[in-house]
Amino acid sequence: MVVFKVTRVQTTPFDGQKPGTSGLRKKVKVFKQPHYLENFVQSTFNALTAEKVRGATLVVSGDGRYFSKDAVQIIVKMSAANGVRRVWVGQNALLSTPAVSAVIRERVGVDGSKATGAFILTASHNPGGPNEDFGIKYNMENGGPAPEGITNKIYENTTTIKEYLTADLPNVDISAIGVTNFSGPEGQFDVEVFDSANDYVKLMKSIFDFESIRKLLTSPKFTFCYDALHGVAGAYAARIFVEELGAKESSLLNCVPKEDFGGGHPDPNLTYAKELVARMGLGKSRSEGEPPEFGAAADGDADRNMILGKRFFVTPSDSVAIIAANAVDSVPYFSTGLKGVARSMPTSAALDVVAKHLNLKFFEVPTGWKFFGNLMDAGLCSICGEESFGTGSDHIREKDGIWAVLAWLSILAYKNKDNLNGGKLVTVEDIVRKHWATYGRHYYTRFDYENVDANAAKNLMAHLVKLQSSLAEVNDIVKKARSDVSKVVHGDEFEYKDPVDGSISSHQGIRYLFEDGSRLIFRLSGTGSEGATIRLYIEQYEKDPAKTGRDSQEALAPLVEVALKLSKMQEFTGRCAPTVIT
Ligand code: G6P
Ligand code: ZN
Repeated sequence: MVVFKVTRVQTTPFDGQKPGTSGLRKKVKVFKQPHYLENFVQSTFNALTAEKVRGATLVVSGDGRYFSKDAVQIIVKMSAANGVRRVWVGQNALLSTPAVSAVIRERVGVDGSKATGAFILTASHNPGGPNEDFGIKYNMENGGPAPEGITNKIYENTTTIKEYLTADLPNVDISAIGVTNFSGPEGQFDVEVFDSANDYVKLMKSIFDFESIRKLLTSPKFTFCYDALHGVAGAYAARIFVEELGAKESSLLNCVPKEDFGGGHPDPNLTYAKELVARMGLGKSRSEGEPPEFGAAADGDADRNMILGKRFFVTPSDSVAIIAANAVDSVPYFSTGLKGVARSMPTSAALDVVAKHLNLKFFEVPTGWKFFGNLMDAGLCSICGEESFGTGSDHIREKDGIWAVLAWLSILAYKNKDNLNGGKLVTVEDIVRKHWATYGRHYYTRFDYENVDANAAKNLMAHLVKLQSSLAEVNDIVKKARSDVSKVVHGDEFEYKDPVDGSISSHQGIRYLFEDGSRLIFRLSGTGSEGATIRLYIEQYEKDPAKTGRDSQEALAPLVEVALKLSKMQEFTGRCAPTVIT
């Protein structure tokens, strides 16, 4: 057994190591500065209680982006030096964010050990490579991101740090499964490299009926396509969709994880998942030939998802509503009923209507997955989702891209259980249109104005807040812009009181609510890296089944006009069009 020594290394603080709930994200070049990652990791150890470090079991892995393998070796050595008992590493440093959450919650080591936390190495949907982004975040014992109390403490520690601890261990081979034992001043230290998919696959099998999904995926009537955008989802897709569920290998696109995501932007939306979008018969450069019946994509760390039907896009807001409406029938995990459902404030109210119909507890929380975690820990929420391509459930404490795909496949399998040998296939589009006919449709679009001057964005938001003090003035502007738009009946800045811990989150976005259920929401992004990003969310509710089939941009055009007039978008930002429309 290799015996190691612990060294104390002198260091000085770096500016700007404040982690958000999605961790610390910076360019690789920043992370590669000597002591930069070490300072952050030591500051995290120092922010945790002693029993979460000394003698503890930690998970370290991520989406496989450039610099991950170096980072794993650094963190392993520092863990040993800080008295951690064992580190679990996914083979080749790969674990999706949802898989890390599952491993923390579910995995039991050979000696009965359980993990109490994880360093997740990811910058989510941001591009990777030597000139792109790297990221690190810490997740707690419940499998969810560290709460603000801890992230604030980590940040404080980074501003005063003077030294960190490291051990003179040799690099561990993380390409081969197995355990390596070391011996240090405080006793034994182990590094266990394990299969990245096993625990996650086991959890998915306990939630979904794999046999019924297999019947669907192997039916000649059904065609399928999954795009991992060269992110870590590839490590799970081959195993789950092909090996376990019988999909053809040719149905996997970009499913080999790459350190630079093949040079692409690993974000599953209509703009960045170009190849999938073309294959599904959508977009300007759509492929010739018959598209598959079902398509889906994931982001770099596989927590986001996009769901597509043949020549058909399912908005994330509709997706969570449809999953909630069908879960009890289609997914064994939910067969005894849903504890409640939740969505983020800017996500459309499609889920609200389902909750009302099914008499379910319902929560509207600010943007950010952490708010759902609290509800789930308290047993108040089973299914939740966000407009930003995040969907998930209380099986873990992160959103889960592959779970969302399995949920959709379960619904399709259930609706087609008698059709696979004869009869017409019920398609994704059929399911969505039927849902609209039953519950009404929430036409929905999001306009992003990226890299706007930060002051201009602040002024625009201040203008909108001030305007809310006079609804008469607001309605004057609305009527002058479009006489066919209904009246604004309420305006506010969204504030949330957490029903579990009573904490209050204010200034979570500006809302204009209309008499007919339409909503205009303005928010500043919390994840942009340059300048400010203004997000404008536009939503209109249509109950009449005869009118739910329109093109959404066309249906929303009057509200868009009103939104631009109310906010004086062009005056404040100089922009006559958004950067991205989703
Ligand atoms: C991350 C979080 C999501 C959140 C999103 C919002 O992806 O994990 O929970 O919805 O950021 O981003 P924004 O840029 O709109 O603040
Ligand atoms: Zn992500």
